[in-house]
Amino acid sequence: MTDRLLREQDMSDQRVAIITGASQGIGAGLVAAYREIGYAVVANSRSIQSGDDPKVAAVPGDISDPATAERIVKTALDRFGRIDTLVNNAGIFVAKPFTDYTPEDYKNVLNINVGGFFYLTQQVIEPMLRQGGGHIVNITTTLVESARSDIPSVLASVSKGGLAAATKSLAIEYADRGIRVNAVAPGMIATPLQGGATPEQLAQYHPMKKAGTVEDVAHGVIYLERAPLVTGEFLHIDGGQSAGR
Ligand SMILES: NC(=O)c1ccc[n+]([C@@H]2O[C@H](COP(=O)([O-])OP(=O)(O)OC[C@H]3O[C@@H](n4cnc5c(N)ncnc54)[C@H](OP(=O)(O)O)[C@@H]3O)[C@@H](O)[C@H]2O)c1
Repeated sequence: MTDRLLREQDMSDQRVAIITGASQGIGAGLVAAYREIGYAVVANSRSIQSGDDPKVAAVPGDISDPATAERIVKTALDRFGRIDTLVNNAGIFVAKPFTDYTPEDYKNVLNINVGGFFYLTQQVIEPMLRQGGGHIVNITTTLVESARSDIPSVLASVSKGGLAAATKSLAIEYADRGIRVNAVAPGMIATPLQGGATPEQLAQYHPMKKAGTVEDVAHGVIYLERAPLVTGEFLHIDGGQSAGR
């Protein structure tokens, strides 16, 4: 078989995931998890760099810029020929008492957490419909449903709560056209976002008294990937935080 035929055959069998916020933390764990199940990955973040794996295409860029979404989708289609999954993972967390938030905080959190979801999700719908289906996962936070007085963070609730609502809305809009839309709501996961808090400190927020790892979150996302009848679902990966205390 010629190289071209081999490449075409490879492209037609190859499943492809787009993962945003992929340079560290949960996003980097998701890249590893999707590679492990054989997906090619288009990985985005502002600082992301290409590595040695030819099945990972890095697309640096700010996800709040619609032009970044266009470049991500173009790269996925040019390089791998299709888009099966999008994980909207890139996000920032700004926790402050409500009246301390500045207009700049509001703009940044909404532009990245909501704008990033909005522009890129719009762009993947058409290729997914053309292929007959796809899967979109939005990374939210368990704080949407279980707010805490010791972590005041209304902008996380506004932005991730918006994604949670959009998850159900999009799941229903596309339910009979093969696109599933789910959300994963992490609790306290040991990543750079937690600013150096130790796993022991993070564990105190979870009734299970165990901090989360990026692998815990990746397991949840891969479960949803392999659950063909599940759509519009919120999967909490939070050691019981959302269940009560
Ligand atoms: N860790 C937790 O306990 C926890 C809990 C609940 C929810 N979450 C959510 O899980 C997601 C991942 O969190 P994490 O803990 O892995 O955070 P993290 O360690 O801070 O990583 C965030 C990732 O997002 C990227 N990013 C930030 N701003 C971006 C932008 N404007 N455009 C593109 N990429 C951007 C960062 O890379 P660059 O700097 O290179 O852009 C990085 O790769 C976030 O949505 C967060 O809200 C985390």
